[in-house]
Amino acid sequence: MRTSQPQTIYLSDYKVPAYLVDTVDLRFELFEDGARVHSTLAIRRNPDSQESAAPLELDGDSLVLESVALDGTALSDGDYENRGEQLVIRSVPERFSLSVVTWIEPQNNTRLEGLYKSSGMFCTQCEAEGFRCITFFPDRPDVMARFRTRIEADREAYPVLLSNGNDVDRGELDDGRHFVTWEDPFPKPCYLFALVAGDLVEKRDTFTTCSGRDIDLRMYVEPRNAEKCDHAMDSLKRSMRWDEDVYGREYDLDIFMIVAVDDFNMGAMENKGLNIFNSSCVLASQETATDLAFQRIEAIVAHEYFHNWSGNRVTCRDWFQLSLKEGFTVFRDSQFSADMGSPTVKRIEDVTLLRTAQFAEDGGPMAHPVRPASYMEISNFYTLTIYEKGAEVVRMIHTLLGPDLFRKGSDLYFQRHDGQAVTTDDFVRAMEDASGRDLSQFRLWYEQAGTPVLTVSDEFDEGRGVYRLTIEQTIPDTPGQSNKKPQHIPFALGLLGSDGQPLPLRLSGDETEAPTERVLELTEGVHTFEFHGIPSEPVPSLLRHFSAPVRVRYPWTREQMLFLMNHDPDGFNRWDAGQRLAVDVIQRLIGSPDDAAIDPRLVEAYRKLITDTGLDQALVAKMLQLPSEAYLIELAESADVPAIHRARERVLEHLAVALRDELVACYQRQHDSGAYEVTPEAIARRSLRNTALGWLLMINDDEGRALAVRQLNEADNMTDRMGALRALVNSDYEADRRQALDDFYDRFRDDPQVVEQWFSVQAASDRAGQLSDIEQLLVHPAFDWKNPNKIRSVIGSFAGQNLAAFHNPDGSGYRFLADQVCRLDDSNPQIAARLVTPLTRWRKFAPAYSSQMQSALERIRDKEGLSRDVYEVVHKSLAG
Ligand code: PHE
Ligand code: ZN
Repeated sequence: MRTSQPQTIYLSDYKVPAYLVDTVDLRFELFEDGARVHSTLAIRRNPDSQESAAPLELDGDSLVLESVALDGTALSDGDYENRGEQLVIRSVPERFSLSVVTWIEPQNNTRLEGLYKSSGMFCTQCEAEGFRCITFFPDRPDVMARFRTRIEADREAYPVLLSNGNDVDRGELDDGRHFVTWEDPFPKPCYLFALVAGDLVEKRDTFTTCSGRDIDLRMYVEPRNAEKCDHAMDSLKRSMRWDEDVYGREYDLDIFMIVAVDDFNMGAMENKGLNIFNSSCVLASQETATDLAFQRIEAIVAHEYFHNWSGNRVTCRDWFQLSLKEGFTVFRDSQFSADMGSPTVKRIEDVTLLRTAQFAEDGGPMAHPVRPASYMEISNFYTLTIYEKGAEVVRMIHTLLGPDLFRKGSDLYFQRHDGQAVTTDDFVRAMEDASGRDLSQFRLWYEQAGTPVLTVSDEFDEGRGVYRLTIEQTIPDTPGQSNKKPQHIPFALGLLGSDGQPLPLRLSGDETEAPTERVLELTEGVHTFEFHGIPSEPVPSLLRHFSAPVRVRYPWTREQMLFLMNHDPDGFNRWDAGQRLAVDVIQRLIGSPDDAAIDPRLVEAYRKLITDTGLDQALVAKMLQLPSEAYLIELAESADVPAIHRARERVLEHLAVALRDELVACYQRQHDSGAYEVTPEAIARRSLRNTALGWLLMINDDEGRALAVRQLNEADNMTDRMGALRALVNSDYEADRRQALDDFYDRFRDDPQVVEQWFSVQAASDRAGQLSDIEQLLVHPAFDWKNPNKIRSVIGSFAGQNLAAFHNPDGSGYRFLADQVCRLDDSNPQIAARLVTPLTRWRKFAPAYSSQMQSALERIRDKEGLSRDVYEVVHKSLAG
C-alpha cells in the first residue's frame, strides 16, 4: 500500500540499464501456504552505460527476502540494503552471479500480478511489472535474458507444470512431489515470463510451418472445459498460416501452449510460447458462446500469437513504447479478422469502438499521446489510445505506403531489430528506410494527443466544371499540450454524380486517366483541392474507410446522407451516412416532445434495408443498429443522459411501429434450419433476426413475445438464446423476463462464462438493472469479488452500458460506483482503476450530473491508503 504520493516517471529520464542479465535460473517450490523462489542471475555491467560506479538495484514488490549470495558467498545484512521495493547492493564486480531466495504467498495474491492462484491452479501475470512480485530483478523490458525454470510441486494436485520454451528435464521428488525443467532459448524481458501448475487436461494438435517444421500445439484447460477448445485451436492454426502468408513470419519454438484461467485482469497475455488467456477470451462452444464471443476469441488468439514477432522477438525499450507492440499487433489482428470475415463489417466495428471510446478518452482528462511522455502507474496506460489509436496510426502508414512498401518496411523492421528492445521511432524509421518516404511530420501522431478535427467546405463552379474542396485541420488542446502542429493525414475520398455514379477525380485539368477514389495527403493547416471536369454538383464521400482517426465536420444535408446511404461504393461510408442520419434525427428529438419530428425518410430508408434482400446482409445487419447512447453522449456538448436515452428509445419505437410487419417477415425469412456456422452470412442472419425480435419486443408486440419465448426454448446456440433472452429482459413482459432469467440460470449455473453473460444482460438493461437490482446481483451466490470477470459483468456493465440508470439524476449510480471502487482498491487496484473510467469524463455532462460525478471522484480521492493506480486516475480527472 502507498505510503507517500506516487512519483511521475518521465520518458525524458530514460537511461540504458547499468547492468545486464544474461541468464536467469529459477527454481520454484510450490506449496499450499506459499512458494519459495530461488533465482540465480548471471549479471554484468552494461558497456553502453555511462554509470560505471552505479550500485546494483533490483526491483521487488511484496517479497520476503530469505537470502542473498554473490558468486556463491552468502551476503550479510550490511552488504546489501532491502528497501522493500528495491534490493540495493553498493559494490559488485564487473561480472558476477547473484543468488536470491524469496518467499511469496500466491494463495493470498488478490491483485493477480506476479504468481497467484486461480481455481486451484498456480499461474502468473508479469506484464507490465509483475515479475518483481516473484523475485528481485531489473524489471524493465530492455533487460533481456535467457530463462531456465524448474518447477516443483505436489504430483497429484499439480500434474501439469509449464513454463516458457521446451521441457528439458522432469522427474520424481520425495513426499509425492515432482518437477519439470523448462528452457527458453530466446532472450526475453521478464514481463514475458510465465509459469502454470495445475490439474489440467491437455488438448493437442500440430501445425507444419512454411519451412516444414512440425509445431506441437497444446491447450491446457480445467477438465470441465475440455469440449470448449476447438475454436481457439482452429483460430490459432489460421493465425499461424496467415502470419506466414501476409508478413512472412514463421513460428520459432517447437511448442506453442495456451492456458485458460478464470481469474485474470485482462483478456490474454503473450508470454513466450505459453500464452495465458482469460477463460472468457478462449473457451467457446456453440451452446455457450455467442457469435460475438467466437469472433472475439479468434481475434484475441491471433493477437497474442502475432505478438510472438511484434512484441516478443522485437520488444519495447521501455513502457512509453507500449504502442510499438500493441498498436502494431492490433493492426495485424484487425487485418487478419478482415481477411477471415467481412472487411467492411470489421472496419465498422473497429471504428465504432474508436469513435465512441477512444475519442472520448482523447477528449478527456486522461488524454495522452500514443507514445506518452509520462505516467505514474503503467497499468493505467493499457488504453484505447495505445491499442486502438496506435493501430490506426500503423494503418495510416499502410495507407500512405501501400501494401507492398509497407511489407518491405515490416520485413526490414523485424530483420533489423530481431532480439532487440526498441522504440516507436525505430519502427517508423524502418518504414521510411524501406519506402524512401519522409515520415518526419507523421511522427507527430505519436507525440501529440487529441483527435484532429477536419472542417470541410466546398464550392461548385458550374461554368468551369470545377469542384473545390477546402479542408482545415485543428487539433484540440489536451492536458499539458496546447498549440499543436498540423499532422500528416491521409484523407481518402470519392465524388458521386447526380445519378450515383463515381466521378473521375482529376486534380488538374489535363489529367486523363483519373481514379474514382484518391488519398489526399493533408500536411498544412488548410488545403484547397480543385477537381476538374465535374459535370454537375457532386456529393462528396469523405474520409472513406475512415482513413484517419479524425472528426470530420461538413454540413451534410439529409438528402446527401440518404443519397450516400444508397449509392456510396464504399460500404463503410454507406454505413456511416446512415449513422449520421440517425444521429441527426435523434439529436433533433431531444428537445422536442413531438414524435412527428421524426423524419419519415428515416423510416423509408430502414424499410428498404429490412426488405431489400439484394443488399449485403452483413452490412444491413450493421446499418440497422442505431448509434449507441455512448456515441450520442460523445457527440453531445453537455450531455443529459436520460434525455438522450429517451430520445433514442422513441426513435426505435417509432421505427418498430412503422415497420412492424416487415420486422416479422424479416424474422421469419432469416429462419435457419441448417447446421450452426460462424460465417459472415450466418452471423448476419442471426443478427438480423435478433434485431427484429428486439424491436418487436420494444413495442410490446404479442407475436414478437411468442417468437422470443419459442426461440429461447428451441435455440441450439447461444447467439439465438441470448438474443431472445435480451429481448425479453428489455421488454415490459415482466413475468416472462423473470421466468426466462431463472430458467437460463438453472440451465447454465455451472458454467462461469455463461453466468457472466447472464449477469451482464441484466446489469446492462434499464428494465432489469436498476440500482436495487444491481445490489441483488452483488449478493448472488455466483458473484465473486475476487473474479474480475464477475466484477466487470455486473459493475462494469451497469456503469458502462446501462447509462440511463447509472446517470440517475439523484446521483445514486455515481455514489454506488465510488463505493465499489473503494472496496476493490485494496484487493485489486488495477481493476479498481479501470472501473473509475465512467466517472472520469464528468465535465462532459450537464451541470446537474457533473457536480455529482465530481463529488463521487472526491469520495474516492479521500479514501485512506489509495493505490497508485486509482490515485493517478482520480487526481488527473479532478485536476485543471
Ligand atoms: N499484453 C496483453 C495483450 O495486449 C495485455 C495485457 C497487459 C495482459 C497487461 C495482462 C497484463 O495482449
Ligand atoms: Zn497485445
